[in-house]
Amino acid sequence: MNERQAIRAFLLMSYLVLVTRGIDAGTTDRWEKTGQILKDQRFRKTIIMEDGDVYDCIDVNHQPAFSHSLLKDHKIQMEPSSFPTGLNIKSSFQHEFVQANLSTIDCPIGMVPIQKNSKLDQITVHNINQVSNNHIQHEEAGIKYLDDLYGVRATINVYEPKVKKDNADLSQTGIQIDNGPEGQIDSIVVCYSVAPHYAGDSFARFHVAWTDGVLNKSCIDHNCPGFVQVSKSVGLGGRVQPVSVYNGPQYVITILIFKDPETKNWWLAYGEQNTLIGYWPSSLFTRIKDKGDFSFWGGHVAGPTASIYSPQIGSGHFASEGYGKAAFMRNIQIVDENNKLVTPNKYKDLVGTSDLLKYSVDGYKINKYGMHMYYGGPGILV
Ligand SMILES: *[C@@H]1O[C@H](CO)[C@@H](O)[C@H](O)[C@H]1NC(C)=O
Ligand SMILES: *[C@@H]1O[C@H](CO)[C@@H](O)[C@H](O)[C@H]1NC(C)=O
Repeated sequence: MNERQAIRAFLLMSYLVLVTRGIDAGTTDRWEKTGQILKDQRFRKTIIMEDGDVYDCIDVNHQPAFSHSLLKDHKIQMEPSSFPTGLNIKSSFQHEFVQANLSTIDCPIGMVPIQKNSKLDQITVHNINQVSNNHIQHEEAGIKYLDDLYGVRATINVYEPKVKKDNADLSQTGIQIDNGPEGQIDSIVVCYSVAPHYAGDSFARFHVAWTDGVLNKSCIDHNCPGFVQVSKSVGLGGRVQPVSVYNGPQYVITILIFKDPETKNWWLAYGEQNTLIGYWPSSLFTRIKDKGDFSFWGGHVAGPTASIYSPQIGSGHFASEGYGKAAFMRNIQIVDENNKLVTPNKYKDLVGTSDLLKYSVDGYKINKYGMHMYYGGPGILV
């Protein structure tokens, strides 16, 4: 194994750990903690969505994040001290696509929506032992990138990949940013995920997750304290709609994660207007406090049978089918040390897939329109 391969193998592991731990390990105890917080709150508004999701509007200053021991004296930041420069440079593309909507809840000003009946958690609690006693398998397709990173951005084509319900596997697509030595990696992930066994349905749902590499603890959405939400309308854990149709209309979500140059908090924004969702306070982290050193853009499947009965990634079609048929990511960018959005350096990436028979990456290019790729595939059709 040369050094690059070694790094790659280790990063794969870190991603796996994040995905599996974020969803499985320790959720019982987090669920109880969050339940406690909610009981102590006086929420004025409960909103039940058409799809059965339930959100409570909670005072922005009393949201779950602030029960984190490191955030007791945290002063909420309602907007970043600055955005990265270069945000408004539009890169053209010959095809039409439209931003999909994240789940929108209409909370009053000064409040934020927190999912109440997070099915993910309840069902996961039920399955912890089953999942963690099994050998977790994983596959992936996308771009890995090794460089100093102060932010990452991409426009992600949204599909609902097929995942068998009884297998406890999941398929997710998104962006990850990491830093830290093996075994102590701090990580942030923003993705859409199809996880029928956990979520109870096969919809694409929007999630944020992070790992404290030192405490070796992961967390999804608001299921344990950490992420500070400022948006009064975006429902984490909610559906992304509409999703793209094979050979039909294409929908995307644009995701931007960036470090506030003054407070060092990691901000999350989405859409063409870079609408703020919230941030991870820098005090949560040790390794990723100042910058990231690794990023992944692409699709990933994980679970007890994710290699034997691999679920789909993206549209479920190989990358070679191209626009409208294969899933794409476009305008892949990083934020550099000067707080500027730039196209990644093509000598610092590793592009590929864990199994060419199941998934592929194609049309990978850096040209005057930026960095882009098609990725995904059928997995194993059983
Ligand atoms: C997103 O939601 C808005 C408001 O409900 C709606 O007008 C718009 O059509 C939706 N976008 C798409 C792509 O469906
Ligand atoms: C992190 O936690 C996981 C699951 O609890 C465990 O398997 C792993 O060994 C831990 N890693 C470290 C470095 O402590």
